[in-house]
Amino acid sequence: MSAEQRVRRPLSADSPARRPLSAGSRVLAPFSRRAARVLERRVYGAYVVLRCADPDGPRPRAGQFYMLAARRWGGGDGERPFLPRAFSVLRSGADHERAFLIEDVGPGTHRLCELQAGEDLLLVGPLGLGFGAPEDARRPLLVGGGVGIAPLAIWQDELGGASALVGFRDAPRAEGARLLADARVATDDGSVGHRGLVTDLLREELDGDAHATVYACGPPAMLESVRVLCAARETPAQLALESGMACGFGACFGCVVPTRRGYIRLCVDGPVVDAAELETAMVAGMGH
Ligand SMILES: Cc1cc2nc3c(=O)[nH]c(=O)nc-3n(C[C@H](O)[C@H](O)[C@H](O)COP(=O)(O)OP(=O)(O)OC[C@H]3O[C@@H](n4cnc5c(N)ncnc54)[C@H](O)[C@@H]3O)c2cc1C
Ligand code: FES
Repeated sequence: MSAEQRVRRPLSADSPARRPLSAGSRVLAPFSRRAARVLERRVYGAYVVLRCADPDGPRPRAGQFYMLAARRWGGGDGERPFLPRAFSVLRSGADHERAFLIEDVGPGTHRLCELQAGEDLLLVGPLGLGFGAPEDARRPLLVGGGVGIAPLAIWQDELGGASALVGFRDAPRAEGARLLADARVATDDGSVGHRGLVTDLLREELDGDAHATVYACGPPAMLESVRVLCAARETPAQLALESGMACGFGACFGCVVPTRRGYIRLCVDGPVVDAAELETAMVAGMGH
């Protein structure tokens, strides 16, 4: 039986370095939707990065997200996309510049990926609770899968550097690794870096030195594997989860996920959640 099968208990409540940001440190979004001019559209393999100017918005914290839409929204098959879509902030630069990483997987992301410099990105945000700093002299260790690398890029910037492990399906998606500094890469098909899962790399890292705080974002199966690996070694982990979000600010209850202390609305009590709060990160309805 492996270490991670043996130890599935949560970290104790007073374990250090396990807490995402508290509600008191939330950066609040201005109430209404605003237009942010797209400054640059750049393609990274299978992904599009939109850099925009948001002069009227506050600076986001790493791990927070925005609800995004564009002009000419709706009117596709079944009038979709109807609602705005949730995106982690990828980067926050000087002069109120923000960047978002988008994978074209449906009508909303397709429309956003079409945007060109000079057009408007319509946004509400920053929303939700982001990552909390490591404590107890633990080293930050970032683990991302697919578009889940987005909140880790801004977190790496804010931390002033951190080891990063990133996993992708194939080479076009692995182009996204360029958005993080010095990332170790895994691909499912072995076309770039380690052939296999990013959690293989995480296991190796933690077996070398488990005195870390792990920050992870990616598909549910990856996050569940991260949760189990970390729990087995008493390594604190903060997981940026996803669920379908209709409003993004607590009104619709469309984003609820179960935790050990009951259901939470991921848009206001997350998206970053302490791994010790979860029975499982395999939340129904999450992930691509
Ligand atoms: C907090 C948060 C942060 C996110 N950050 C990013 C990001 O940085 N970059 C990015 O590309 N995407 C991100 N997403 C996912 C993004 O919101 C969805 O891909 C998008 O809503 C899909 O809209 P669509 O109209 O293009 O496709 P849809 O037709 O709505 O969906 C297309 C496919 O994606 C799946 N899907 C839809 N919504 C979600 C979701 N919320 N989570 C997982 N799978 C979904 C559907 O099941 C379907 O298979 C984030 C989601 C959340 C909740
Ligand atoms: S998305 Fe509406 S309550 Fe969370």
